[in-house]
Amino acid sequence: MKIDASVGEAATMSILSVDVWRGGEDGRYQRFDVPREASQTVLDVVTYIQRQLDPTLAYRFACRVGMCGSCAMTVNGVARWTCRTHVAKVARDDRLEIGPLRNLPVIKDLATDMREFFDKWARAKGQLAPTATRRDDFARVRPDSRARQAADAGIECIGCGVCYASCDVVSWNPDYLGPAALNRAWTLANDQRDGARIERLRAVAGDAGCHACHTHLSCTERCPMQIAPTASIAGLKRATAVAALKGEL
Ligand code: SF4
Ligand code: SF4
Ligand code: FES
Repeated sequence: MKIDASVGEAATMSILSVDVWRGGEDGRYQRFDVPREASQTVLDVVTYIQRQLDPTLAYRFACRVGMCGSCAMTVNGVARWTCRTHVAKVARDDRLEIGPLRNLPVIKDLATDMREFFDKWARAKGQLAPTATRRDDFARVRPDSRARQAADAGIECIGCGVCYASCDVVSWNPDYLGPAALNRAWTLANDQRDGARIERLRAVAGDAGCHACHTHLSCTERCPMQIAPTASIAGLKRATAVAALKGEL
């Protein structure tokens, strides 16, 4: 839909037609008209609706620059970080559909409950188990070592949940630890400063762990940080198999 720009301005201003999820799991989409702007992000659209049209709209964001991981939503059917997703890239015929992330309980509108996502990081033993004390010297890890490079590949995860929302195995099997927690486990399994490698491999070797992954690659295609959880999970599959053969699990 187009409206006339003011006299003297050459362009016409587009209006985006935006369907936004309202309510909890049993909610429905509500339509809003939002003026289109240059370099507008999907988060800008949601913020406009909340500030100008309906202050009761619930959503979550913090940094607006792709660092905190809190702004992920489903945009035209695909999970994305909304602060770094330009409307021009995703709008179809001036239309957007914005919903909460899949595979997580909806609290209200666009805000999902992330507890089970992070609980699974804990189940996958996603915390460093240090072997050094504060009195020890800094650990020196060679940047070109194989383990360091394997850890580096997954270390920039911002915990946005995009991969988790894109994973069909999580949908079928809610117990499945999911790509982000397993990616974190693989990062720590390669961390030379960590002292809980075998416990971590045990934690991810069960039915809900790395062997449940069907290698669909959706997580890797969607991760906004260009992390490849599928490769991390493949690493865990190999490492757990080797540990099992050695009788360590
Ligand atoms: S590769 Fe594995 S973790 Fe990633 S989306 Fe597919 S099934 Fe899920
Ligand atoms: S692996 Fe990527 S998509 Fe998944 S939580 Fe981390 S940054 Fe987000
Ligand atoms: S608001 Fe922080 S990553 Fe989008």
